[in-house]
Amino acid sequence: MRCAKPCWGVVCSGAVLTSSVGVNPKCPFALEASGDTEAVLDGPKLQQLFSNLLNNAAPYRDGANPVTIIVRREKETISVRVSNQGPIIPAASQDAIFDPMIQLAVKEGQQKGAANSSLGLGLFIAREVTEAHGGTIKAESTEERGTVFTVSLPRQAAHDHGGAGAPARYPQ
Ligand SMILES: Nc1ncnc2c1ncn2[C@@H]1O[C@H](COP(=O)(O)OP(=O)(O)O)[C@@H](O)[C@H]1O
Ligand SMILES: [Mg+2]
Repeated sequence: MRCAKPCWGVVCSGAVLTSSVGVNPKCPFALEASGDTEAVLDGPKLQQLFSNLLNNAAPYRDGANPVTIIVRREKETISVRVSNQGPIIPAASQDAIFDPMIQLAVKEGQQKGAANSSLGLGLFIAREVTEAHGGTIKAESTEERGTVFTVSLPRQAAHDHGGAGAPARYPQ
């Protein structure tokens, strides 16, 4: 993981990674970013959003597989995909997990790794922050590709995101 200096940003933010590495010291994180990922977003809220995704992906990942973060500049948006190999989220639950206090049943060999203190609010908050920026978030989970959360954010937030909203540059 390369981050030249601490900065607010879409996952290459030193703050997000430092905190996620601190919470998940044994988890490798692999970041790939391409294109001009400059955007005007609310840095602290984005930090919360991506910390929630990374702090889910790390404990749910299998074995030595890294959590991967792919940041791409699209025409009007920046997309961020957070992926891990691990227990699959059933298709029927891939929308419901964004609702408050939804946690999937723990079965042997499945869905293990959630922190005992968790409340089922992480993805709800992630969705609230994303939508406040006029963006979208979705989960996809298959044996083949693992679990992938994709966040798509307008480069210029379409809605009032309720925060300081200082322009933030997201270096690669
Ligand atoms: N990367 C992931 N892999 C598998 N299941 C996940 C992953 N992220 C979230 N989930 C499922 O979604 C549920 C809701 O996540 P979240 O809202 O962050 O709540 P919490 O982490 O407190 O359980 C989790 O309890 C888990 O069942
Ligand atoms: Mg969580």
